Amino acid sequence: FVHTPSLDQLELKFNALVGVNSEGEIDFVHDEYTLALAPVEFFKQSYPDHHNYTTIEFVDYTKDPTKFIVPGFVDTHIHASQYPNVGVGLGTPLLDWLHSYTFPLENKFSDLDFATKIYTKIIQKTIASGTTCASYFTTIDPNSTNAFADLLLQYGQRGFVGKVCMDHNDTYHAYEEDFASAKESMDKVIAHIEKVNPEGQSLVTPIITPRFAPVCSRELLKYLGELSASRSLPIQTHISENKKEIELVRDLFPECKDYTDVYDQHKLLNQSTILAHAVHLTEDERTVIKNKNCSISHCPTSNTFISSGEAPIKQYLYKDQINVSLGTDVSGGFDLSILGIVKQSILVSHHVAMTEKDSYHQLLLKDAIFMATKGGAIAVGLDNTIGSVEKGRKFDMQLIDLRSYNSNADIFEWQLPSQEDLKEERELKMMNLLGKWIFTGDDRNCVKVWCNGRVILDKSARDERWVMV
Ligand code: GUN
Ligand code: FE
Repeated sequence: FVHTPSLDQLELKFNALVGVNSEGEIDFVHDEYTLALAPVEFFKQSYPDHHNYTTIEFVDYTKDPTKFIVPGFVDTHIHASQYPNVGVGLGTPLLDWLHSYTFPLENKFSDLDFATKIYTKIIQKTIASGTTCASYFTTIDPNSTNAFADLLLQYGQRGFVGKVCMDHNDTYHAYEEDFASAKESMDKVIAHIEKVNPEGQSLVTPIITPRFAPVCSRELLKYLGELSASRSLPIQTHISENKKEIELVRDLFPECKDYTDVYDQHKLLNQSTILAHAVHLTEDERTVIKNKNCSISHCPTSNTFISSGEAPIKQYLYKDQINVSLGTDVSGGFDLSILGIVKQSILVSHHVAMTEKDSYHQLLLKDAIFMATKGGAIAVGLDNTIGSVEKGRKFDMQLIDLRSYNSNADIFEWQLPSQEDLKEERELKMMNLLGKWIFTGDDRNCVKVWCNGRVILDKSARDERWVMV
């Protein structure tokens, strides 16, 4: 097992035996399992009072160190509706990009058949890339948003469902709702999700989603702040992604000190608020975000693709001590795999370091893996539930196989730990394999996915056959 139980801590568990109960929860983590006995036998001898385990997965590191289990990824910012637009609109600045590509696409989601096709695809694709939990934006349409919640439950992915709220769209009048219909739609979505969740579980949760300040009236922002408080619901929105957007917010809300203050004045900042992008924050804003315990969703791929800027994440994490997670931001981001975002987050941090002429800004593997798992769990308020291999957490995991069928990650025999290395250098060897995974791997290496202890995807092994001529 590879996990990051806290910031700055990457733990490699070479000999762990993990017990998962019928609720899909981790009952115990035994760190000194010996291979001399089969797992179930070992368990019976160590804990004679319990007998009810079967083996759900067995990974023998000594035989195949290219297989390991990692907590499922948490994508804290993704627009489910924007999937058809991935790769489209390179370099178009944010406000033009919204107007030209995004609003016209989202406006089609009142067509339920169209919506269902796209929503099915994005859920399948994210699961196949190891995402076991995601905080989604849908569109303003409540019916297809409810269908999206149903699909999450059907596929077994943990998810936060954000019906987009926006009652003030000056640039694209065809796509907006009025205040009354925003309220009505929110009621409809919240009631539906309460009804469809399996008993005793909240796999799917509504999340309050004012799209971003420029498209929301003061009245709507105030109502959504109150709704979050009265229903104890989390909040997600965009903040300080692009300089023109920041200027627009200054013009629209002259009574507020800055962008962060707009949300603060409408009671939208608390420990369950996810702020996406946060590229150009002032020191005052970072202080407020820290004091209110909000999380940031860092979206490096999107910030690069639409040229929004480079967020100084190392500083947010360590100096400002703000919780930072990762978001694909499909379709501002073209990559719906959090593994891809892990890679991009590291590369962008190197650019920040080069610009600042200070290597401090370089993110390490452990920082990026933390943001992709535990940091994400904190952002969605589930750090006691998911994100690490610890007792009491749900078994939301992914099995990685660096030599899976058709894998792009070439691992050479001499890079595998020898029996000697297993005694002396296994940490170092394993860190090299993690580097291989992050920089050369992709969804083909994610071969099995569990959510709530249940297998939700199993890509059975296939043999590769070359036809030599
Ligand atoms: N700001 C407001 N809406 C959006 C959106 O859909 N994507 C991104 N990247 N930024 C936004
Ligand atoms: Fe976004």
